[in-house]
This record gives sequence, C-alpha cells and structure tokens, in this order.
Amino acid sequence: MTAPLTIAIDGPSGSGKSTVARRVAERLGIGYLDTGAMYRAVTWFCLDTGVDLDDEEAVVAATERLPLDLGTDPGAPTVLVGGRDVSREIRTTEVSTAVSRVATKQRVRPVLQRLQREEMARIAVDTGGVVAEGRDITTVVAPDARVRILLTASEEARLRRRSTELHGSADAAAVEATRDQVVRRDRDDATVSQFAEAAEGVTLVDTSDLTLEGSVEAVLDVVAAAGGPG
Ligand code: DC
Repeated sequence: MTAPLTIAIDGPSGSGKSTVARRVAERLGIGYLDTGAMYRAVTWFCLDTGVDLDDEEAVVAATERLPLDLGTDPGAPTVLVGGRDVSREIRTTEVSTAVSRVATKQRVRPVLQRLQREEMARIAVDTGGVVAEGRDITTVVAPDARVRILLTASEEARLRRRSTELHGSADAAAVEATRDQVVRRDRDDATVSQFAEAAEGVTLVDTSDLTLEGSVEAVLDVVAAAGGPG
C-alpha cells in the first residue's frame, strides 16, 4: 500500500495559499487542514470568554481545553468550538487583528503543533492524503511531508489581493487600509516562524504573476514531480 499523500504549504498572507491549498485538495480528492484557523479559533475563544491575551499562562490553558472540531472537506471547511460553528466569527477584523498575539506565544505553539500533527495523520488515513497549510508546516509541523511548498508573492501582489478580498477594491485607499493587516501581521508572525524563504528541500512557488488556476497548476506540477498521488 502506498503511503498517504501529505502536502505541506506555507506562505505569508495574500500569497493565495488558502484558496490554492483547498483547490489542490479538491483536485486530488483528499482532506484539507487550515492551521491558521486553529490559531484564529483560540483567539476567538479567548476574546469570547474574556481570557487576557497578554496572560500567556491563561492563553495556554485556554488552548489546551479548547473543544475544537475541524471539518476538513476542502469544498466547505468548518471550525466548531464546543459544537458551535464559528467559521465566520474567526475571520472578523477583531480576530484578524488579535491573532498574532496568540500565534507569537512560544508556549501556545507546541500545543497547536501537536494537535496539527494528530489532525494531519487522522485526515491522511481517512481520505488517503492531506493538504495542510500555514506558516511552519514545511519546517516544524510536518518536515517529513512528501511534498513541501512555500507559496510566495510580491508585497504589492499580496496587498492587492487582500485589499480586493476585504474591501472589494485595490485602489490606493483600499490598499492602504489593508497594509497594516498584511505587513504588520507578517512581520509579527515572522518573529516565530520562518516563512520568508524556502527551507532546504522546500519548493518555492511564486504566484505574483499567476492567476489562481495557474497557481493551482503550479502546485499540482510540484506534486506530480514528487511522485504524484499514487
Ligand atoms: O493564515 P491565517 O491568516 O488564517 O493565519 C492566522 C494567524 O495564525 C496568522 O497570524 C499567522 C498564524 N499562523 C501561524 O503562526 N502558524 C501557522 N501554522 C498558521 C497560522
């Protein structure tokens, strides 16, 4: 029997990694794990239950007791906390602004990284493979994944995409309004995960000049070169 196909994709905000990772999983008929959604779920939970985000001990305890349930269908991934669907709540500006304060806590990361390894193994067994995306999947969570990709794009392209996503426009004012979320968050996140450059053995895919479909095809080419799904 062939080992399940494990694909790790890292990248900064606006690189297109979430959409690309989902499409790739769909095309290959395997499950999907959004590890950023896990950091977001912890952040939402802390805000919702009044946990002080500056209190590392309390945030670690909240992470450990988080009743998290992830739906890993790439067509409709869901995030449940205590049975409540918070897929939408974890994408609010409030959570997006606060999430780095959780993700940069050195004692929180190992708790979620362990959970991510367990989830990847479970999904791979259930669906024959997994596409997991985040910031440290290729380097820390799954350095032994069959395929490891760093998806990048120029700062200009990333700002343009996020701006269109958040404000429906990429005019100068909208891009400026997006800059803090993209640039500051990546700068903060880069203090704990190295995703600015591809680590050894990780394939760099630059999507600056690629369409979404082009990016999906580029990733599928890397998968095929690594031996494909079989
Ligand atoms: O990809 P995203 O915007 O949903 O990620 C949310 C936050 O979690 C962002 O601040 C980066 C952080 N993150 C991380 O530190 N490690 C991961 N594996 C995934 C996300």
